[in-house]
Amino acid sequence: MSHSSIPLKKLRRTAKDASKRAYAPYSGFAVGAAVLGASGRIYGGCNVENASYGLSNCAERTAIFSAIAAGEKRLKCVVVYTPTKSATAPCGACRQVIHEFGPAARVISFCAGHDEIDVSIEALLPGAFGPADLT
Ligand code: THU
Repeated sequence: MSHSSIPLKKLRRTAKDASKRAYAPYSGFAVGAAVLGASGRIYGGCNVENASYGLSNCAERTAIFSAIAAGEKRLKCVVVYTPTKSATAPCGACRQVIHEFGPAARVISFCAGHDEIDVSIEALLPGAFGPADLT
C-alpha cells in the first residue's frame, strides 16, 4: 500500500508547532498532534491538562475533535510529536478514538531524537470494538 499522498512534512510541522501550545503544567509532558482528514485538510492539537488531572485531554484527541468539529468524517493519518528522546505511541483511549474515525489510519510518532513509530491503527488496536459492532 502506498502512502505517497500523505503530506508528511506538513503533518510533522503542524504536530511539532502544536506541542509548543501544550497546556501541561502538571505532567510537564508536552505533546503535539496533527491529523489528516479525508478532505486533505490538516488539524493540529496539543494536550490540555486540568487541575482535576482526570479531565486532561491528549493531543491526539484534541486534534481529532477539531477535525470532526470542522466537518471531517474520516481520518487518514495521525502524527504525534513529543520533545523526548524516544517516540511515544498514542494511549489506549486515543487509539480507540483514532479507530472510530480512521479504522485504516496510519499512525506516526516522532520525537526530538531519531526514534520513530510508523504503524497502522490496526496494529496498535487489534480486533478493535467499533461502530460496526453496534449494527
Ligand atoms: N499525552 C498525550 O497528549 N498523548 C499521548 O499519546 C500520551 C500522553 C498527554 C496526556 C497528559 O497531558 C500527558 O501527556 C502525560 O500523560
